[in-house]
Amino acid sequence: MVRKSETEPLRLGVNIDHVATIRNARGGRHPDPLRAAHIAIAAGADGITAHLREDRRHIGDDDIARLKNELTRPLNLEMAATEEMLAIALRHVPNACCLVPEKREERTTEGGLDVAGTGDRLASVVQRLKAADIRVSLFVEPGARTIAASAAVGADIVELHTGTYCEHVLAGDVGAVSAERERLAAAAKQAHGLGLEVHAGHGLTYNTVAPIAAIPELVELNIGHFLIGEAIFGGLSDAVGQMRAKMLEARRKVSPVTVHESAT
Ligand code: PXP
Repeated sequence: MVRKSETEPLRLGVNIDHVATIRNARGGRHPDPLRAAHIAIAAGADGITAHLREDRRHIGDDDIARLKNELTRPLNLEMAATEEMLAIALRHVPNACCLVPEKREERTTEGGLDVAGTGDRLASVVQRLKAADIRVSLFVEPGARTIAASAAVGADIVELHTGTYCEHVLAGDVGAVSAERERLAAAAKQAHGLGLEVHAGHGLTYNTVAPIAAIPELVELNIGHFLIGEAIFGGLSDAVGQMRAKMLEARRKVSPVTVHESAT
């Protein structure tokens, strides 16, 4: 039997890494990422995302401990699939871990995980996190082979990389924008069909969020750099509120997802 489900509400995860970037520019404790997390939650964020990078360039180990102990909403820990990070995740047990590729010299997370190419090693990390009751997300490019491989390694979630889409919007390349939006929509549909929860993020702004939020299978967007940047001008509450409003508006126009049910 096939039924039309309710359109899932779209959650907003606020990434507070760049509050720590500003703090670390001077050392010391100000501005505090935990304070930003509390403000984001009060303004409507459904969860907080933080990326503990190998080089600790923004978020540090102590930030993760404080976020985990004090947050009132789920913590999504972004991390590379290394033994060091696995041990940290197992110590703090965040609600979810989003596994990302990490290169020391990159400015931000470039590209998605090569899930098909690193299957066995990745599957072992996924299984060890899941065994500790941590939901596992894989940050991936919207390609059919990668989505299939993500389901095969046992991930709960795929987070679709929207960086390329946002770059095409910035460049004003209408054809490329439309093609990448199609790729994202097809990947979301495929992932949903395979039983994966579907998230998206990277590079999203007020200007780019609506067409992504309108992809019906998506249940969460993770947004950081733009919101923290906007917070300089109008405050973090206002930035989160405006982003939420744009997501909601885009979502109102979405037709419900078709769900396949067994005939019991
Ligand atoms: N999702 C993932 C997996 C990321 O690595 C990042 C960047 O840390 C984001 C979302 C958020 O991207 P941005 O800071 O560009 O909004």
